[in-house]
Amino acid sequence: MIKYTIFVVDDEETIREGVTMALEGTYRISAFSTAEAAIKAFKKEAPDLVLLDIGLPGMDGVQALREIKNIQPEALVIMITAFEDAKTVISAMKLGAYDYVIKPIHMDGLDVTIRNALDTIRLRKEVHSLQEHYLKENLPCFIAESNAIQDVMEFISLVAKSPDTPILIHGETGTGKELIASAIHYRSPNFKGPLVTVNCASIPKDLVESEMFGYEKGAFSGANLSGKRGLVEEAADGTLFLDEVGDLSQEAQAKLLRFLEEGEFYRIGGTKKIHIKTRVVSATNKNLDAMIAEGLFRKDLYFRLGVIKVDIPSLNERKEDIIPIARHFLYEFGKKFNKKMAKITPQAETALYEHNWTGNVRELRNLIERAVLISRGQELTVDELGIRSGTTFKATGNLSSERGMPRLTPEGMDIVNILDSYERHYISEALRMSGGNESQAAKLLNMNHHTFRYRRKKLELK
Ligand SMILES: Nc1ncnc2c1ncn2[C@@H]1O[C@H](COP(=O)(O)OP(=O)(O)OP(=O)(O)O)[C@@H](O)[C@H]1O
Ligand SMILES: [Mg+2]
Repeated sequence: MIKYTIFVVDDEETIREGVTMALEGTYRISAFSTAEAAIKAFKKEAPDLVLLDIGLPGMDGVQALREIKNIQPEALVIMITAFEDAKTVISAMKLGAYDYVIKPIHMDGLDVTIRNALDTIRLRKEVHSLQEHYLKENLPCFIAESNAIQDVMEFISLVAKSPDTPILIHGETGTGKELIASAIHYRSPNFKGPLVTVNCASIPKDLVESEMFGYEKGAFSGANLSGKRGLVEEAADGTLFLDEVGDLSQEAQAKLLRFLEEGEFYRIGGTKKIHIKTRVVSATNKNLDAMIAEGLFRKDLYFRLGVIKVDIPSLNERKEDIIPIARHFLYEFGKKFNKKMAKITPQAETALYEHNWTGNVRELRNLIERAVLISRGQELTVDELGIRSGTTFKATGNLSSERGMPRLTPEGMDIVNILDSYERHYISEALRMSGGNESQAAKLLNMNHHTFRYRRKKLELK
């Protein structure tokens, strides 16, 4: 069994020796007669717990506590104090001491206090490793090489700690808003609860209210006989992610505001108030300030949603991320298409670096996916990428020829995924060529408009 380590810091030799003798059978003890010496050792290797005398010569115990908490905010410190020091004890507790013991020290009492404290870290460690596990299981790899995006990650780790503070994420299309929203969920105390995503743009206007807040049986014609829980209820004790929140109708905005203000709502046709605790994370690529000025978005709702605001910089603003992310996708799609992709050629990397990424990480992902699919060797070339120094040119090569196709190996292949990739590529390409005009793009592909829209939506192409 791993032994916990404890520092004993006291200038009285009898206390250092007494405590060491009493505890060394169970714990690893290091004793110090000054705070300075203990802090030096703490910096080298932090113990699990510190027993810290308040009345020390030189740096006193309260100052030492402040230092220790500076080095490691979650450090467990138990103060040792003479009875007269009551006032100082209060200030130590305010600084985050876990508990205190009064001299003369009764070993039995000390033992209980220490065990309680160590239970706290055991629990904390358990929760921490469970949370790490959830993070690993549920979050796709998030590449954060640039300082700009590392700052964002650091900030969200911090704000995620509160279970209910609303967070509004803003960023251009494809910058990773949805990924950041799930990172917030899995880093928050609600990580074991559900993460429920509402795409505010895709729910038809007249269904938003019932989808979000549910309804009672017979609430309207066509309503399910038994009534239905809404997405807000589904998100209880977890995270409610309102994607594309700028697309909410005025009615839905009003109802959402009421819910955020009061933490409760009625199902449609219901008479019972429903209380729900959940964290609302919302995201938009729209300029909500401009929408407020035009009267399209409620200012009061904006303030409620954006208690904390997170701005994700565009890929063009953090070019250091381009190559690492591209290499990550090279690996991902190499695996998916069963191709041994070794690298991106230096020339192709330069082209990636110089490209103007209006579609951000999603555009980069789609580009690498297509390039890996059509690549003929183990190196991704500038021709296969189909970009050259900031401009896009038409990919050459006849895809229907055997050479451009992924190879079928004895391990097999995922044909549905591969076909999806081809389709995604041509739909994007057609949209680009038609300047985003869907009916023209559909014509280019000899598809009817409805089929085109359906396929585009299915492949989540913007
Ligand atoms: N830093 C990153 N590392 C790895 N993959 C990323 C990163 N950022 C984004 N992605 C990937 O890029 C794609 C787009 O990300 P996401 O869907 O989160 O963007 P978004 O901002 O929500 O886009 P939209 O505004 O279009 O909804 C996803 O496949 C996501 O996994
Ligand atoms: Mg999104």
